[in-house]
Amino acid sequence: MRILGIESSCDECSAAVVDDGERILSNVILSQVDFHKPYYGVVPEIASRKHIEWIRGVVEDALSQAGVVLAEIDAIAVTFRPGLIGSLLVGVSFAKGLAWALGKPLVGVDHILAHLYAPHLERRIDYPYLGLLVSGGHTIIARVARCDAIEVMGTTIDDACGEAFDKVAKHYGIGFPGGVAIDRLSKSGDPRAFRFPNPSLHKGNARYDVSYSGLKTAVIHQLDQFWDGTSEKSLANIAASFQRTAIDILVDRLVAAAADTGMRRVVAGGGVAANSYLRARLAAEKDLEVIFPSLALCTDNAAMVAGLGCRLFSLGLTSDFRLNAEARVPMFKRAYP
Ligand code: KG4
Ligand code: ZN
Repeated sequence: MRILGIESSCDECSAAVVDDGERILSNVILSQVDFHKPYYGVVPEIASRKHIEWIRGVVEDALSQAGVVLAEIDAIAVTFRPGLIGSLLVGVSFAKGLAWALGKPLVGVDHILAHLYAPHLERRIDYPYLGLLVSGGHTIIARVARCDAIEVMGTTIDDACGEAFDKVAKHYGIGFPGGVAIDRLSKSGDPRAFRFPNPSLHKGNARYDVSYSGLKTAVIHQLDQFWDGTSEKSLANIAASFQRTAIDILVDRLVAAAADTGMRRVVAGGGVAANSYLRARLAAEKDLEVIFPSLALCTDNAAMVAGLGCRLFSLGLTSDFRLNAEARVPMFKRAYP
């Protein structure tokens, strides 16, 4: 089974060809980072326009790098949710047009499930497991029963983890994407120079939820209140202390979810899964078997879309031409009053 995958949910324009849901024949990722860098964030209008300019060439490159022609593709998989609506629409419309013209099946793929599928492209992983999805738009702890079925246990009640990295980096002019810049700068900083607050654990059903707006405010507006009184107030120390707190919040909830469910296997995904402190912190959790995708498969890419698309296609979960882009998926973000 040979699937062409298309990903355009945010600022990476990507296409890939994957065989049998596991063999990556090509994975072309064209990043728009240079176009958004001056704004320290993704500008939706620029993102969709770049996708329109690039998508055809990216798909052609993915096919030629894989050494296949369109006639040899069995189905076309595309990210249809969640993400920036204008960006998603480019991929969805392109995939629909291609599927229609070629008379090939179309498979709509959820971006969150695709991130969780990414490490399955690199090794055999048995279900069920705890999924940890940390990206620029989402922070989710979920019970993953199958490739197409997750039960959200915890999510953010305000900002996503990656979003907090991006906003702190933007405020201090540390770089873009913020997570990458903070991760790098933190290596030369003291993670205990500032003791930022870790939101207290909620009770009941919300006990695996995370919150980042308080931490963000503390780091941006209340630095002095959390200073240890002796360390240098350097950017590296701010970055390292913020990173430690942001990741510890996540690890707290994840460890609690693992203990409560008795699930030891954890599969991580999303851009923040590239974070070196998160990787080190989870490697130290000896009771857990934590599986990370390689760095290239953490951030947005179409191989994960083609891979999951193949599994969905095998299960008969194809889409018809009414497939539409959806910016949000309510269960992935708790709607707090
Ligand atoms: O999964 P992704 O590429 O796009 C979304 O689906 O959002 O994730 C992008 C996010 C950004 O917020 C970026 O700052 C963050 O992942 N990120 C990181 C690192 N690399 C990327 N955050 C922390 N540490 C990193 N090394
Ligand atoms: Zn993503």
